[in-house]
Amino acid sequence: MKLWGGRFTKETNQLVHNFNASISYDQKFYKQDILGSIAHVTMLEKQGILTPEEKDAIVNGLQGILTDLENGTLEITAEHEDIHSFVEANLIERIGDPGKKLHTGRSRNDQVALDMKLYTRDEIVAINDLMKELMVVIHRVMAENIDTFMPGFTHLQKAQPVTLAHHFGAYFEMFRRDRSRLRDIYDRMNYCPLGAGALAGTTYPLDREYTASLLKFDGPTFNSMDSVSDRDYLIELLSALSTIMMHMSRFCEEIILWNSNEYRFVEIDDSYSTGSSIMPQKKNPDIAELVRGKTGRVYGALISLLTTMKGIPLAYNKDMQEDKELTFDAIDTVKGCLALFTGMIDTMKFNKDIMEDSAKHGFTNATDAADYLVNHGVPFRDAHGIIGQLVLLCIDKGIPLDELPLEEYKKISPVFEEDIYEAISMKTCVEKRNTIGAPGQEAMKQVIAANARYLEES
Ligand code: ARG
Repeated sequence: MKLWGGRFTKETNQLVHNFNASISYDQKFYKQDILGSIAHVTMLEKQGILTPEEKDAIVNGLQGILTDLENGTLEITAEHEDIHSFVEANLIERIGDPGKKLHTGRSRNDQVALDMKLYTRDEIVAINDLMKELMVVIHRVMAENIDTFMPGFTHLQKAQPVTLAHHFGAYFEMFRRDRSRLRDIYDRMNYCPLGAGALAGTTYPLDREYTASLLKFDGPTFNSMDSVSDRDYLIELLSALSTIMMHMSRFCEEIILWNSNEYRFVEIDDSYSTGSSIMPQKKNPDIAELVRGKTGRVYGALISLLTTMKGIPLAYNKDMQEDKELTFDAIDTVKGCLALFTGMIDTMKFNKDIMEDSAKHGFTNATDAADYLVNHGVPFRDAHGIIGQLVLLCIDKGIPLDELPLEEYKKISPVFEEDIYEAISMKTCVEKRNTIGAPGQEAMKQVIAANARYLEES
């Protein structure tokens, strides 16, 4: 059934119908569509626009549709243009005339704006929860590894020693910001567009505050033209989702490197790895690679919607129907990636000895050796030069700074004494860095405790 057959004298061309229809994907929010309609008729009755009997018949009918869809006895079929048409047609089939009053004081333009908001609002909560599960795992790894030394890198060259707790802590911060972005978006979008009508409100005495409160919005939107044509919140959401993917993708890139034969810092669990059809020895990090790869399609959704929206005059235009498939795909992609990524991290084995050994063999303590000289009165620039020479000597001998005999140190600078070894030991290098945010144990313990409180409270 069509909602708009009256002014037409010909049947719609079948290809036009197919091209125009959105039911294949907007059926995803059938539940939100029905709940929005129930709120709408509840308000219509309160305002005396529907009788209590009409309202009850409609609400019962809508609830029946919801139940039948959920238990699989009712099927959504493609002859309807969209989910709104499907629900209305089915309601009229079920309850007859009162069903024809459902759409009083409403347009599909404010209806679809509402449905999409209700749907994405639920999904923001779901994504936020999945992110928390990931952060709980990251937090556990942090708490267990405040003394697991590893090299910290810049330019992918070994730079200074850090700990596994500190490295994971960096991602904890990224995901914390991601969650707070989701919260911001939720707060900003949480105003109800229902009642905006097609674009200019309605002549019925609707109580928009009431509908908004029934649907747990913070209030009604303030401009009916904006209400039906605002897709900012989806753009913000896709931007936040892109950032989440970007963070996960960086993490995946590191895990892929760490899991390689060259690094062997970690071993991805067999249950999260895949094999090769030809090379029997292979155990591949496909999950990490797929998360990294799927980042592209989430970015794509953001750019698509920005581009779709950029030339649309006020108010509603059909272009906006294009917001759905890409947003749904981005949401489903992020949810899938978060769940798998969390499982992969949770089951991953850390080769602590290899990490520590790697930190020892990259001159990651060279800055601390220079600081030793500075503490003995040598200007930093001179100290930098002296340690540079010692590093060169060690490279030549194939040994770390810790293994160079004191005589060799003294040959280049008489300032060195036996305590240089203590000063450049990995433990000292990390331990001395104890300002908040640094990898030293005391600083890390404070951060880990604060992170635990954050996880409890959020
Ligand atoms: N399927 C449409 C969409 O997603 C619903 C709104 C239709 N409104 C209209 N004026 N044709 O945008």
